[in-house]
Amino acid sequence: MKLNANLRSAFTEETVDNYLYELLPERDAVLREMEAYAEERNVPIIGPAVGRLLALFVQISGAKRIFEMGSAIGYSTIWLSRAAGPKGKVFYTDGDTERARRAQDYFRRAGVAKRIQMQTGDAAALLKKTPGTFDLIFNDVDKHQYPAAFRVALPKLRRGGLFITDNTLWNGRAPHPAAPQDADTRGVQEMNRLAYASKDLYTVLIPLRDGVTVCRKN
Ligand SMILES: C[S@@+](CC[C@H](N)C(=O)[O-])C[C@H]1O[C@@H](n2cnc3c(N)ncnc32)[C@H](O)[C@@H]1O
Repeated sequence: MKLNANLRSAFTEETVDNYLYELLPERDAVLREMEAYAEERNVPIIGPAVGRLLALFVQISGAKRIFEMGSAIGYSTIWLSRAAGPKGKVFYTDGDTERARRAQDYFRRAGVAKRIQMQTGDAAALLKKTPGTFDLIFNDVDKHQYPAAFRVALPKLRRGGLFITDNTLWNGRAPHPAAPQDADTRGVQEMNRLAYASKDLYTVLIPLRDGVTVCRKN
């Protein structure tokens, strides 16, 4: 199996990645189309292995009110909204209006449009001004913004809620000293450090695909 950039891990042996992806059940036509579009147009998405992980966290936590920071064409949004079920509500945010337009069409075709509230603009600003707290916040914005996203998200998470962030091994760069101008790697490193140092959180970094940091708010 040939793994594209959205599937491949920079640090897992290729045979292990292949094994993980071959075990996955086939996705439906809409998710498959989105995976193909993302590969063709270089849209970074979480891919099906991390999609299942997100869905599992939604299922076991019972999360219904979910906020997503950086939703792009809505691939991760569909995994979250399907796992949350018909009573779930997922807040989609992205700064790119063209991606949002495409996402809206996918949501309609995936049968989840009624569960999703779409907003375009800066995810952190939108999260701040959305009333109430959330059961789960998924963070996938630009990596230099991770510490700021972390600081905005925590007060918006209910106790027992989950803050989940993708790409936290950042192509294998996170474990190594970052150049001063490498703001993305430094952003990822700082957020991981904050997440593990916080007394208000219980944090685990899962080395699946590009790394997923999961924090539960005490
Ligand atoms: C990695 S992609 C998200 C992929 C999506 N979570 C998925 O897996 O299907 C990151 C997206 O975040 C958006 N983005 C980056 N910084 C943002 C910000 N501050 N506010 C809103 N959107 C942002 C980009 O436009 C891009 O579409």
